[in-house]
Amino acid sequence: MDFSRIARPCILRREAYYPGKPLEEVRRIAGDNPLTVLSANENGLGTSPRALDAMIRALQGGANRYPDSTAGALRRRLASDWGLTPDHFLVDNGLDGVITVLGMTFLNPGDEVVHGALTFPIYEGIAGRMDGVSVPVPMTEGYGFDVDGMLAALTPRTKMVFLCNPNNPTGTAVGRRDFLRLLEGVPEEVLLVSDEAYMEFADDPEFPDTVPLVARHPNLVVLRTFSKILGLAGLRIGYAAAHPDLVALALRVREPYASNALALAGALAALDDREFLERSKRTVAAERRRMGDLLASRGVRFVPSQSNFLLVLPDREADGVAEALMARGVLVRSLSHQGEPRGLRITLGTPQENDRAFGALLEILGRKEG
Ligand SMILES: Cc1ncc(COP(=O)(O)O)c(C=O)c1O
Repeated sequence: MDFSRIARPCILRREAYYPGKPLEEVRRIAGDNPLTVLSANENGLGTSPRALDAMIRALQGGANRYPDSTAGALRRRLASDWGLTPDHFLVDNGLDGVITVLGMTFLNPGDEVVHGALTFPIYEGIAGRMDGVSVPVPMTEGYGFDVDGMLAALTPRTKMVFLCNPNNPTGTAVGRRDFLRLLEGVPEEVLLVSDEAYMEFADDPEFPDTVPLVARHPNLVVLRTFSKILGLAGLRIGYAAAHPDLVALALRVREPYASNALALAGALAALDDREFLERSKRTVAAERRRMGDLLASRGVRFVPSQSNFLLVLPDREADGVAEALMARGVLVRSLSHQGEPRGLRITLGTPQENDRAFGALLEILGRKEG
């Protein structure tokens, strides 16, 4: 049986998500070197201890019952934190899940999805999975978003605009003025999806405060996740803040038990863990400065970041550098598959991890000595 004959044609044009080499293979390549995983922008400090406690308690309570399909406690908590009502929040299986639900709710074949040319690949992915059309807009010279270019890319077929702020993988951020310009410029019937997976790491005072804006802008959808600063990537939980009518439509598509019981318990408790959040923020800010200064002092180009990773631009092919790093046990992300063959995204981990990774990088580039 040739299943491709009965599959949706748009699926045949796609490839499965490639998460990088399996860790087993990386371990073999790295030999005796300890593994330093800085390839997925996870929190190097671990998981919020309060979340861990809550998840252990939830597990001890039994895994035989289905979780709360409505994610009621978490949505009520988010509502009280943000001064909105619980029906403004859509909780799902990570932001990947939220983006799938948005796509399934709103994208028809041929609908256009505007996004930056060097950004989170899942935006292009949701367009492709729904038989829509991905419209990448070139980045500025400084690897930021070209807000005018994005506005100019809008057509009567545009259904969604994705802004990743701060952007993965460049670390650049759009400030309040440009954000509002984009929001005002996008027609009412086009969704502006602001993916703020890394917003807690941004310390630019001009970084926009967008969740309160959903009360006044029905076409704005703000995405937040527990995967990054709160260290729950393995549990898969994230949410959208949006107009209640939009959320109500999305709930017709969402899997009834999209967020599992451990993730719901962990997320709720993590919101109380200010200590872990602040410590993560401080560590990333200090390491971002320290590693940036190190690279600058050795003449290695990088993009100033508002996030928990650096886009490093060595003067050679990133694939080769990433392989040489892997042989030393350091895992980073080469951007050759994202049209940036000389771009290397390195997550900022603990100071020890960063010393190892950036030390190895400088050695490979022949820039160890200042
Ligand atoms: C910009 C951005 N959005 C969303 C996600 C996915 O987040 P989640 O783990 O909540 O699915 C990531 C993960 O790397 C990301 O970089």
